[in-house]
Amino acid sequence: MQGNNNMFTSIVVVGASGDLAKKKVIPALFSLFHDRHIAKENSTVVGYARSKMTDDDLRGRIAENLVCRLKQEDQRSCGDIQTEFLNNLHYVSGSYDSAEDIAALDSKLKELESGHEKVRRLFYLAIPPSVFTDVAHLVHLHARAKQTVLVVEKPFGHDLASFEELNRTLQEDWKESEIYRIDHYLGKEVIQNLIVLRFANILFNNTWNRDFIKKVEISFNETIDVKGRGGYFDSYGIVRDVIQNHLIQILGLVAMERPLSMESGDIVAEKNKVLRSTTIDPSSVVVAQYEGYTADPTVEPDSKTPTFSRMTARINNERWAGVPFTLTAGKALDRTQTSITIHYRSIPGEPLFNTPCGNTCNRLSIIIQPDERIELRTMNKVPGMGFDARCSDLNMLYRDTYKGVHIPEAYERLILDVIEGDQRFFVQSGEARLSWVLFEQTLKEIDDGRFEVKTYPFGAKEGEI
Ligand code: BG6
Repeated sequence: MQGNNNMFTSIVVVGASGDLAKKKVIPALFSLFHDRHIAKENSTVVGYARSKMTDDDLRGRIAENLVCRLKQEDQRSCGDIQTEFLNNLHYVSGSYDSAEDIAALDSKLKELESGHEKVRRLFYLAIPPSVFTDVAHLVHLHARAKQTVLVVEKPFGHDLASFEELNRTLQEDWKESEIYRIDHYLGKEVIQNLIVLRFANILFNNTWNRDFIKKVEISFNETIDVKGRGGYFDSYGIVRDVIQNHLIQILGLVAMERPLSMESGDIVAEKNKVLRSTTIDPSSVVVAQYEGYTADPTVEPDSKTPTFSRMTARINNERWAGVPFTLTAGKALDRTQTSITIHYRSIPGEPLFNTPCGNTCNRLSIIIQPDERIELRTMNKVPGMGFDARCSDLNMLYRDTYKGVHIPEAYERLILDVIEGDQRFFVQSGEARLSWVLFEQTLKEIDDGRFEVKTYPFGAKEGEI
């Protein structure tokens, strides 16, 4: 989908009555509207779902999630912007497997698009994979404009075979350039900054390898449990839900070689090389479930689905051989934080200074959320007459450094990328496939019960499991 000023864009949110649409997708569209990336003159938003609702019902449902960020000089009131956005939001009810209903959606779109010469359509499928192939096929048959793209949400399958089936079905009707597989972690500000931090700072660029780095930890902690999502989560588990996609995407960006350019193909090519060199060390795999998980009525009473997992990935290439990449993800933990920690090696030889931290303590921490920050631990002299050295942090807190700058929500950034035809931060089919290949054996062993599933108390610390 290419950006074009005369173009009218119809954005269809399929699954408009669901949580994802209500909490993320439609609010992200509102933010784009608010910041004038889209306007009522050149776009419309249509919700589609099975629930019987009117336009006003949908508007009422999502109104409370539309947040304004007005600047002082702004002439508009929040209420005016919300009303303008909501008036441009419509709803069509229909089922996901009815050609007739999708044709009715097409008629509604034509009505909204009338008078505009150049039209393109964006279908955001905020629905489970069990139904998205049907919708994608029917849209292809009955609701395509000349330029039409699909945005699909993870999970892209349950394992390698189901991914391939899903992908094959989609690709029968849709070209790869028309499919945007969203992994919202790729839209997070700090994750996007990884490329700049690594390749625009000689300090990191030249030391980003096994000679300087001892280990890398990529860790996702959440205090929330799976309440309300048990039906989905219980058949996926934390490895499929977070590690196989979000954490692997981070690993790719941390470990890849410098891309030839910032073009999508070049970045994906480097991530793919990393994936092809990576293995999961079977002896490192830990799986656990929080106490009380099976009391959730949406979960199988004797479920062994892991809600926590830790494992070590090994990247068997010249840059990374011998450096463990620990991937950890867990729900119902003591805190919510996603971070990357790069631990540097020690300086060889006897310490020169009196210090409790050994010969060095260099560590780069990249806190993706919450409270985005980058911290570099260095050794410094303790002020005073002596010559003691201690570790202290150089700290770049986004909130302080970029005062007043809005950090876009991942969905906001990524939906704008779709509108502008930029696939850089979307998952290509080759890399989705490779990440299933990488986890195929481990997931099989987890599913077959080869690893003991430990239990941990609700609110446990990651390090204690
Ligand atoms: C989703 C997972 O992809 O990411 C959820 O399915 C998880 O289980 C969520 O809670 C985390 O996203 P964020 O942006 O809140 O870190």
